[in-house]
Amino acid sequence: MTDSKIPKHVAIIMDGNGRWAKKKGKIRTFGHKAGVESVRAAVRFARQTGIQSLTLFAFSSENWNRPAAEVGVLMELFNFVLNSEAKRLNKNNVRLKVIGDTSRFDGGLVKKIHKAEALTENNTSLVLNIAANYGGRWDIINAAKNLAKYTIETNGKIDDISEHDFNQYMSLAEQPELDLLIRTGGEHRISNFLMWQCAYAEFYFTDTLWPDFDEQAFQLAIDDFADRQRRFGLTGEQVECK
Ligand code: IPE
Ligand code: IPE
Ligand code: MG
Repeated sequence: MTDSKIPKHVAIIMDGNGRWAKKKGKIRTFGHKAGVESVRAAVRFARQTGIQSLTLFAFSSENWNRPAAEVGVLMELFNFVLNSEAKRLNKNNVRLKVIGDTSRFDGGLVKKIHKAEALTENNTSLVLNIAANYGGRWDIINAAKNLAKYTIETNGKIDDISEHDFNQYMSLAEQPELDLLIRTGGEHRISNFLMWQCAYAEFYFTDTLWPDFDEQAFQLAIDDFADRQRRFGLTGEQVECK
């Protein structure tokens, strides 16, 4: 497979944990726990395939509205995974970055996030972005506020602001453009994920529920991506001549 057929940046909406558990006659949180193994598999696969950035939607800004017990288990799980995986990610040369509004998390969890990010900050095999309390609209508003502050402080001209300048304030600035967005669990929607970054991403939807999404399932998404012609506004003929 040529290099352009391998997406540089893949994002995944990891959906379907609750339904997976229900199908097995278990409570929803059983599905969240099972989903951790799929996260490990996705990270392994991304490293082996040469993907440079992998962005996983772990908890949306809207997920706080779920029953308190479920939110509690998700927070515990996040804590647990940070404890158990940070060293392993570091050993595997993976850089961890948490994107989203972490100010709403408890202090202990925020400390752990910063510690894991600092431990892995110089790693180069893969950037693993975990989107936690993330919302696409939040990301855009946050960038707008910070860029506005900077523009005022430096007496900059509002009319000079470019898309590039704006992007510098977005969560995934300095990482490759998003090439492929995968959503498991059968729904065909974006659920307030990477709205700005999706501008020219390819979308791949699968009915596979997240705990069943293994390396083979990930490979199918990559194969599908490789078969697509990305035109970025050009004609097919123009792209073929390039
Ligand atoms: C995705 O699975 C995980 C999170 C949103 C945290 P769901 O919990 O949404 O599972 P379904 O969609 O109800 O099956
Ligand atoms: C999106 O899944 C959020 C995550 C996967 C973390 P949801 O299950 O929350 O999305 P909706 O509610 O079906 O749109
Ligand atoms: Mg869901």
